[in-house]
Amino acid sequence: MKEHKTTYHLSKFAEVVFVSRPGQELYVKKIRNGTVIDHISAGHALDVLKILNIDGHEGDIVSIAMNVASKHQNKKDIVKVEGRELKPGEVDKIALIAPGATINIIREFEVTEKNRVKLPETIGGIVRCANPSCVSNAGEPVSPRFKVEKEDPLKLRCFYCARIMEKQDVLKQF
Ligand SMILES: Nc1ncnc2c1ncn2[C@@H]1O[C@H](COP(=O)(O)OP(=O)(O)OP(=O)(O)O)[C@@H](O)[C@H]1O
Ligand SMILES: [Mg+2]
Ligand SMILES: [Zn+2]
Repeated sequence: MKEHKTTYHLSKFAEVVFVSRPGQELYVKKIRNGTVIDHISAGHALDVLKILNIDGHEGDIVSIAMNVASKHQNKKDIVKVEGRELKPGEVDKIALIAPGATINIIREFEVTEKNRVKLPETIGGIVRCANPSCVSNAGEPVSPRFKVEKEDPLKLRCFYCARIMEKQDVLKQF
């Protein structure tokens, strides 16, 4: 597929980007301070908004691109949120559903920090075991814990009952 990307710098604080393929043009305005979550697995932008508890009523500027062409992946989603920097717990949740995502911190219109999300070898605290008879669901002081068997497609194995959790199981809890 042929794609041309041209960036026009209109002034220090404004930029217009045209991404054109036959019959397609996209206009994106820069945010001043906030976060750009880039390289999200295609189709998962709305899951990222859910993780961030964004429903549009906060009044902040949010732009979403879904299934756009990417150099690194076939297709990707992007979420840009003005006025927000992410908390560590939110970054961990994004890592579970979008393992290749990059988190760009924007300050005064520029990318000042770029981090690729990374899953640790074990996950504790953010996901519950889906097996109702697992000891971690029995009201005992046993907190859920999983071994990351595979990042993409996601496979988590419960330390206690060996139940395998996949992306869909995890998403239901967010
Ligand atoms: N002020 C801004 N407002 C909105 N989006 C921005 C702003 N600055 C950068 N971005 C977006 O943030 C992402 C990262 O910007 P960067 O300039 O690092 O691009 P890149 O070189 O393509 O990065 P990468 O190598 O991670 O793909 C891109 O999607 C870019 O469009
Ligand atoms: Mg890029
Ligand atoms: Zn379990």
